[in-house]
Amino acid sequence: MIELKTKPEILILKETGDIVSEILSEIVSNIKPGITTKHIEEIADKLFKKNNVQPAFKGYLGYPGSICVSINEELVHGIPSRNKIVKDNDIVKIDVGIKHKGFYGDVAQTVSLGNTIKENKDLLQVTYDSFENIKKYANKYCKLGDISASVQEHVESYGYSVIRDFVGHGIGRNLHEKPEIPNFGKHSTGPNLMPGMVFAVEPMVTIGSWEVNILEDGWTVVTKDKKCCAHFEHMLAITENGCEMLTKITNKF
Ligand code: MF3
Ligand code: CO
Repeated sequence: MIELKTKPEILILKETGDIVSEILSEIVSNIKPGITTKHIEEIADKLFKKNNVQPAFKGYLGYPGSICVSINEELVHGIPSRNKIVKDNDIVKIDVGIKHKGFYGDVAQTVSLGNTIKENKDLLQVTYDSFENIKKYANKYCKLGDISASVQEHVESYGYSVIRDFVGHGIGRNLHEKPEIPNFGKHSTGPNLMPGMVFAVEPMVTIGSWEVNILEDGWTVVTKDKKCCAHFEHMLAITENGCEMLTKITNKF
């Protein structure tokens, strides 16, 4: 069963989405070559306090960080560290989750620093453009499989691969709710989309093969072939007339 949210619940989720987007945007505008990923987390911690919200990831299944910072071949769940320094030309993935008024917000983006090679910039753009297709299918006349298939078709048409081992998710009073939202699948399959469903959709795309490993820290997900990968995440609500985006990504990537 996919839980349907009421209109007042969606209003709170929208508020939560606005706050988490604001926090992501401030974090991203502070990332410069030479900064450690721990320092990025410290900036995030100040913003959580300032906005009076809790970091959703801290302690989640034992995750030690309050945000995730993943560089180049690292896809998701990078643990902030004093030993990891962001360099010119890196691509950096920032994933932020909060809890506000009993509801969760979750948003992520990839940024490129300095003169990042065109190959990586293209990867980021194509990954983000998945949301154009997602928006086409995120409505009550479609099924969940249409969203998944549309991401896969878009990404593979550029010769990239979608990650198989990690998925988007429903979101609400829990960070992860039903359904799982893979970035691959078949049209006209899966549950019908209905007004009141709220999803965190997370296109995860790599230049090489989709296979991933988890590092010895037990969290950091990296591509097996060490090729660069990108991740973006937006929350959206299915409405009577299509969908409403609940998060914003305002920084250039
Ligand atoms: N956006 C990610 C997710 O939905 C971040 C979770 S990090 C974790 O799974 F540490 F909390 F697992
Ligand atoms: Co998520």
